[in-house]
Amino acid sequence: MMKVLLTGGAGYIGSHVAVSLAAAGHDIVCFDNLSNSRAAVIEHVEAITGQPVPLVVGDIRDRDAVRGAITDHGANAVIHFAGLKAVGESVADPMKYYDNNVRGTLSLIEAMVDCDVRTLVFSSSATVYGEPQYLPLDEAHPTAVTNPYGRTKLMIEEMLSDIAAADPAWRIAVLRYFNPVGAHDSGLIGEDPNGVPNNLMPFISRVAAGRLPELAVFGDDYATPDGTGVRDYIHVDDLAEGHVAALDRIRAQDDALSVWNLGTGQGYSVLDMISAFERINNVRVPHRVGPRRPGDVASCYASPDRARDELGWEAKRDLDAMCASTWRFERTAAMRNA
Ligand code: NAD
Ligand code: WQD
Repeated sequence: MMKVLLTGGAGYIGSHVAVSLAAAGHDIVCFDNLSNSRAAVIEHVEAITGQPVPLVVGDIRDRDAVRGAITDHGANAVIHFAGLKAVGESVADPMKYYDNNVRGTLSLIEAMVDCDVRTLVFSSSATVYGEPQYLPLDEAHPTAVTNPYGRTKLMIEEMLSDIAAADPAWRIAVLRYFNPVGAHDSGLIGEDPNGVPNNLMPFISRVAAGRLPELAVFGDDYATPDGTGVRDYIHVDDLAEGHVAALDRIRAQDDALSVWNLGTGQGYSVLDMISAFERINNVRVPHRVGPRRPGDVASCYASPDRARDELGWEAKRDLDAMCASTWRFERTAAMRNA
């Protein structure tokens, strides 16, 4: 049993990982500055897990605050979700991203060393692979980034690699997420972005709910079976269980740093996602084909083999479960806000 500090624990992925860690018998404490989340999320995590979940409201760039949270709660591992993730915003305001993501992570690492905690799971992204040279993407695929957000993820990966090389007492898991979607079956926690969503699934859900008029499909002339972009969508609860497996694994092995893809290995197109959402939820998702979005690639999906072989973990939930749980969260949130 570990006592795990979750930076960004009130966020979309962090809240689901909190639930999975609690289910696996670990103790958790969330640390979040609530810049992209609300404290009420923690109450929902408490309702799901049936146990109190401490929330420390603070910023990872505040080394004293992180140190205080680790010592006050006796944390002996950190899962680090805290960060900014909007690609377009990172192009417009790169300093904000280098400050929050890179400086923030360095400050977090310093606080961990101060407290003699060297077990860390880091939220990286398939964005570090850039334009795929081959598919599926395995962990040996070369890295290349195309925007400041992606560059912060790659810079942090490289920083962690240097730190692990210098001090073999570190136990670090770098997890490269593909496209996390869906929500916990309770409908109590899920993805609820501020403003107009950047990502496909929350956009589809808001169109289905009538909160947005229609979805723009970003291009239908890609070299894919139906011409629309293909991605590896993974249910957030599968992703969450991958974190529990990675934490178990790094505690049991001697490697100071390991990298694992968390994906399903299965690609779906934009039109696949729309029709699955409509069919499983019996709703309409009005959409229209528009121009490509700059920076998008045609296809991106994982080889999940290393995670399967080394973590004993595989994604189990299918596209129907991803779409049904997204819609359940949308409806539950609507009832709550009514
Ligand atoms: P999210 O915005 O829902 O969660 C991030 C949380 O971190 C938020 O609660 C926010 O308030 C908090 N936070 C941000 N900056 C902070 C700071 N300086 N100090 C303390 N707290 C801070 O995002 P998410 O989708 O849950 O993403 C979690 C992590 O996973 C991020 O690092 C993101 O880059 C990474 N990731 C996400 C995706 C995705 O598609 N959602 C894909 C790949 C990687
Ligand atoms: C998926 C597909 C779009 C919106 C992004 C980040 C990546 C990672 C995950 C954090 C693409 C199409 C989308 C819309 C559309 N995040 N689309 N209309 O671009 O694969 O990855 O989120 O690390 O770094 O870049 O995800 O959900 O934005 O797009 O047609 O309104 O849906 O073109 O084919 P993406 P997405």
